[in-house]
Amino acid sequence: MQKSTEEAVLSESTRGSKGKLYIESYGCQMNFSDSEIVASVLEKQGFSSTKSIEEADVVFLNTCSIREKAEQTVRHRLQQIQVFKKRKPEMLVGVLGCMAERLKSKFLEEEKIVDLVAGPDAYRNLPELIAQAESGQKAINTFLSREETYFDIDPVRLNSNGVTAFISIMRGCDNMCSFCVVPFTRGRERSRDPHSIVAEAQKLFDSGYREVTLLGQNVDSYKWSPEENNKARLEKTTSSSIVRFYDLLAMVAEVNPALRIRFSTSHPKDITDDVLHTMARYENICKYIHLPVQSGNNRILEMMNRGYTREWYLQKVSRIREILGEDCGLSSDMITGFCSETEEEHLQTLDLMEQVKFDFAYMFAYSERPGTPAEKKFTDDIDAETKKKRLGEIIALQNRHSQERNLHEVGKTFRVLIEGTSKRSADDLQGRNSANKVIVFPKMNYQPGQYVNVLVESSTGATLLGKIV
Ligand code: SAH
Ligand code: SF4
Ligand code: F3S
Repeated sequence: MQKSTEEAVLSESTRGSKGKLYIESYGCQMNFSDSEIVASVLEKQGFSSTKSIEEADVVFLNTCSIREKAEQTVRHRLQQIQVFKKRKPEMLVGVLGCMAERLKSKFLEEEKIVDLVAGPDAYRNLPELIAQAESGQKAINTFLSREETYFDIDPVRLNSNGVTAFISIMRGCDNMCSFCVVPFTRGRERSRDPHSIVAEAQKLFDSGYREVTLLGQNVDSYKWSPEENNKARLEKTTSSSIVRFYDLLAMVAEVNPALRIRFSTSHPKDITDDVLHTMARYENICKYIHLPVQSGNNRILEMMNRGYTREWYLQKVSRIREILGEDCGLSSDMITGFCSETEEEHLQTLDLMEQVKFDFAYMFAYSERPGTPAEKKFTDDIDAETKKKRLGEIIALQNRHSQERNLHEVGKTFRVLIEGTSKRSADDLQGRNSANKVIVFPKMNYQPGQYVNVLVESSTGATLLGKIV
């Protein structure tokens, strides 16, 4: 029998517990962070989170569309989940996130085991959608909002180490890089009330967390004012001044000197000297910048609509090293085999890498995404083999640079925030330095959440090994 939403909510509060939620996240950190919002919305309704899919009443996959392979992974996972659903037919299967947004009702047609589809701006609506699905209807909400920032939702920390946490500071993206699906799956850019961000950071600090990473697709375009973001959303909002990203960085850094601040992702066209100077001013803002370049060739950058040139990018890197020092960590994203990319243009990417020497990079072969400007305007004409060959070359070069940059750290002492036990050995702890390098060292009597000074004695290539001094 079909229940109205109101009845569903009532019966649940009298019952106390609504069931168990299992949620799996794919894609970027923003998706993982969104899953914590989802868990919070449903815990308020009486659900509890579980790590076991077998005992779940509701199974959610929070999905990613960034490359075709990301979507294939989710399709395979749904096939596996079908086995659990056969054993327990009342189990509800929902698809959330970017793939849900991209495919909308097509998902319900294509994947028979899916009962519920919810886009990234529809998570407040999940209790109603679940009630609807429980009554036997297919439930869907893929409405994209211009305002939703979930500013007032206190995320439930899932799979937490109790030391580091993510805080979403904005949603969506207005950039329209031609290859990218994100503006279509996440909608327009909007910034979250800074007071709610500071309050979340303070609460994390008070409960023992020692590092927060501020998340957005383009953090440098963070901008908030009570007027623009209409309705003063928190009582405290009285100032009428605009809050920019560097103001926000300073506000969060002021929470406590023992709270480390990181942020991601910076955009080369938007990162300003103000941001760099703010980073320099606060010891607790980590000296590490993820600055995706995508390509080292101007014609390709133009086709990608990235809004900067190779020269502009190299100039930004110089500014970073001038203001924050040579030891500031720097990482990047690269795409190989973008539409019509020639061998010479590919070599220019390798050349730019040679000039910068990134500490780390995420590297991808171009994957055409339906509906993006690149899909509409250009031909995906670089064959798979060439993409793979070029990708292999940039990966090999990056590995060499990562090793070189790591070897350079041997003999230095760094302040490290301990995050947990090392994956290699229970007798070792691991943490990161300000520049985001992972360092492993013998445990002694130290605990996660403490700061220690570690002398780096050797490098395995990807990881630094040392001892507490
Ligand atoms: N907002 C971030 C990136 C988000 S997506 C930024 O602007 O840098 C993360 C990375 O995935 C991108 O930097 C890009 O390198 C890669 N990517 C995005 N779309 C892609 C596609 N269609 N094919 C291959 N890689 C892609
Ligand atoms: Fe995609 Fe570009 Fe926005 Fe990054 S900045 S999310 S690559 S459109
Ligand atoms: Fe993927 Fe969506 Fe993030 S497409 S990379 S989960 S914003």
